Parts: sequence; C-alpha cells; structure tokens
Amino acid sequence: MRLIRVCELKEGMVLAKDVLDNTGRILLLEGIELKDTFIDKLKHIGIFAVYVNDSTLILPTTPVIPLSRSETIAATEKALHDIILKKNIKASGLREKVAKLIEDILKADTLAILVSEIQSYDRYTLDHSFNVAVLSIITGLTYGLPKDELVELGIGALLHDVGKIFVSNSILTKKGRLTPSEWEEIKKHPDFGYKVLASNMDISKEALDVVKQHHERINGTGYPHGLRGESISSYGKIAMITDAFDAMTSNRVYKKGITPYKAIGAIKAMRGLLFDNNIVDAFLAKMSSYPVGCKVRLNTGQIGVVIKTDEITETKPTVVLLFDRNGCMYKETKTVALAKERELAVVGTL
Ligand SMILES: [Fe+2]
Ligand SMILES: [Fe+2]
Repeated sequence: MRLIRVCELKEGMVLAKDVLDNTGRILLLEGIELKDTFIDKLKHIGIFAVYVNDSTLILPTTPVIPLSRSETIAATEKALHDIILKKNIKASGLREKVAKLIEDILKADTLAILVSEIQSYDRYTLDHSFNVAVLSIITGLTYGLPKDELVELGIGALLHDVGKIFVSNSILTKKGRLTPSEWEEIKKHPDFGYKVLASNMDISKEALDVVKQHHERINGTGYPHGLRGESISSYGKIAMITDAFDAMTSNRVYKKGITPYKAIGAIKAMRGLLFDNNIVDAFLAKMSSYPVGCKVRLNTGQIGVVIKTDEITETKPTVVLLFDRNGCMYKETKTVALAKERELAVVGTL
C-alpha cells in the first residue's frame, strides 16, 4: 500500500483504503478499481491523496487525524456561512475543535507524516485554512506558546482569509496577471476579515492578529499596512510563514504548486529578511523536505519512496528503492536508511 497524489492516479489502480469526504462520508470503498471517472471526481471534490494497493512496498503510515480534519473543516465552513449571513457568531464551536486538533497533533508520533498529508493539491479555501492552522499550531508548539494561545492561533488561522469573501471571485481566481486596481482589492482582505470578525464574533486579540497580519513582512514590505518587526505580533509572524508555505505548495487555477523541498528552501532564504529568525527556526524544526510518501531521486540515479523521516536526519530519510539508475523497476525492493549511507543522498523530488 502506498499514499499517492490524486494527480498521479491511473485507471486500474486499486484503492487500499476507503476515501472519505470532509464530513467523514465514504466516497469510494477500499478494494475498488479506479476508473477515469472516479479519478476526475476525486480531483473535482478536492481529495489530494489516497492509498492504493502496491505490492512493491508497504508504507507504515496511518491516516492522520481524519476525524479532526473533517470536523474542523465543517466547523470552519459553518463559521464562514454565519459570517456571510452576518449572524452573531460564537467562537466556542471552533475553539472546541481546535483544542481537539491540538490534542491529535500532540499525539501524532511523526509530524513528518502530518506534513505529508496536509499538502493540498486540488482544492483551496477550506483545505488551505486547515493546513495553515495545523502548520501554525505545530510552529507555535515548537516556539513555546502555551496551549490556550495555540487554540487562539488555530482559530485565527482557520479564519485568516475570511476577508476574501468580500473580494470578487473573478479577481481571486483570475488566471492572468492582476491589474494594479485588482491587486489593491486583494490587499484589502486582511482588513475586511478583521472588521467582520471583530464586529460579529467573540474572538480574541491573538486570533485577530493572525487575520490582520498574515500578509505583513518584518521588513515592512508586506500588506495591508507595511508593519515592521516588533509592531507585528508573534501570531502574525507565525501565520505569515505558514500561509506563504501552504500557498507556495498548493496548486491553484493560475499556478502549479512547488514541492515542499523547494518551499522550505524559499522560506530559509527569507529568514531574517521577510520572516522572523526565531519563528522560521521553529517552523523548520518540524518540517520535512522529504515527507513520507514523497518520491525521490538519489545521486546514483535510483528512484524511491520515502517511508521514514525524522527531525535530526531529515535530509537523509529512509527510502524504499523502486527503480534503478536506468529506470528499470527492481524485482525486489530494497530499503536504505540514507542517514547510514555516507555516499548516498537525495538530489530531488519527483
Ligand atoms: Fe491571505
Ligand atoms: Fe491564506
């Protein structure tokens, strides 16, 4: 069994686990042979990865926080609907879901698995909010925020782009280059979000900071207010990194996402320039360039799939080799722990 991106699925592959939607309903049953129509449907509804049978290797991964994911996304969706209807919104529902999500994250033994499962390939909006919340909570944990602050950080992250409901969809999904006036419109969404939440929801200052400041940058080049350094809160400084990372790795109608490996490189390059040093360090401490399930090419030309990674040797994961340097599939798979093999290294992802 292995985890495979939906965009890489082929007709005839067999599902190794049930596929659930965001509300926990079964969409496709384990054991079903995939047809192109099923694959199109999975892409359409935003499923980003599924488990398929693969006799060549067994991945020791478990589905990560499926319950928290669907429950948290459903609660976020409800809050967004209430905001559109201008209802007076209580944050308690979201608070409860975020507290549970934090428990699940604390229980997960391999955060690298989490990261591999939260990449969104086919859908944005709610998945993006969930991804930013998970990444922000993980970063906040490493940064040393207490649990009650992590909850507020998570709520802010789930709602950080709420202001986009006031920006025209034609601008948000435009494929070509934005005009200066369209760009000015986009830049208003943090303030739009702040205003609607501050006046309609019992929401904390910390959560509002995430909404207001997630596009600011520490050197003052961000938007909407060009805030600098200390005038941006820690919550805003966390969200600006996690939001940028998820935006870089996600596919959108107008661009294809880059690999986590490249996005991590980009975040590192902006350490101390656009992003706070200490918070970049906290973010990177739990990130894996080569998450479990990721296909990699070695310096020998061999191709394999990452089955294990850890924080200390994260650039040297354990890999199951699938293809030799000539592209021929091995009859018997071989597992190599790169941390123990001095001359072997990952040179890229596929
Ligand atoms: Fe945003
Ligand atoms: Fe965002």
